[in-house]
Amino acid sequence: MNEKTDVNTAENRVSSEGKPIICMKSISKHFGGVRALKDVDLNLYNNEILGLVGDNAAGKSTLMKILAGVVQPDSGQILMGDKTIHCKSPQDARNHGIEMIYQDFALVRSMWVAGNIFMGRELTRGLLGKWLGILDKKKMIKVSQRILEAQNVSIESCLKPAGALSQAASSNLWQSHALSGLMQRLSSWMNQQRV
Ligand SMILES: Nc1ncnc2c1ncn2[C@@H]1O[C@H](COP(=O)(O)OP(=O)(O)O)[C@@H](O)[C@H]1O
Ligand SMILES: [Mg+2]
Repeated sequence: MNEKTDVNTAENRVSSEGKPIICMKSISKHFGGVRALKDVDLNLYNNEILGLVGDNAAGKSTLMKILAGVVQPDSGQILMGDKTIHCKSPQDARNHGIEMIYQDFALVRSMWVAGNIFMGRELTRGLLGKWLGILDKKKMIKVSQRILEAQNVSIESCLKPAGALSQAASSNLWQSHALSGLMQRLSSWMNQQRV
C-alpha cells in the first residue's frame, strides 16, 4: 500500500454502529529499502467482519501484525475508541482484546491438545500462596473443551497429542489458541462458566 490508502473506502462505509472501535491512522512501515505501508488508514466497527484483500506484498499481513503488536510501525497511530493505544508486543495487543490467528500453522504435534491451546499463556495455580505457580491442567482441559465445543469440534480427550488429531480438528486448535488468549482476559466469562 504505497499510496495514501484508506482501506475502508467503498466510499467510506457507513456503519450502523456509529464510531469505529479501532482506528488505524496514517500507518507507515519500511523494511530496509522496502516500503510496505504508506499512510494507511483502517477503521473497524463493532459487529463487523472485514475482508482485507490485495495483491501479494501489498502489506496486508504487515498491517495486521502492527495491529497485533508483532511489528512496530515507523509512524501512525492506533486508536481504540477515543484512546491511543500502543501495541508494543502481542501481549499488549491481547490486553486490549486484539488477537491474531496466523496463516501459518504452528502446532507442537507432540504436545497435548490443551497445551497447544494455552501455549505461552498457560493457566497456573498458586502453591504456597502466590510463591510457586504450577500448571493448572484441570482448568486448562475444562476451558479447552468449552472453546472446542463452541466451535463444534469434537475431540475425545484434550490430553491427546495434537499430532494425533485429524487435519480438520487440528486446524481449529490455532483458532482455539487465539480464543484462549482473549478468554483469559474475560475472567468474568470463566466465572460464568464456573471453571
Ligand atoms: N519482516 C520483513 N522483513 C523484510 N521485508 C518484509 C518483512 N515483512 C514484510 N516484508 C515486505 O513488506 C511487503 C509487504 O509484505 P506483506 O505485508 O507480507 O504483504 P501481503 O501480506 O499483502 O502479501 C513485501 O514486500 C514484503 O516482502
Ligand atoms: Mg500476507
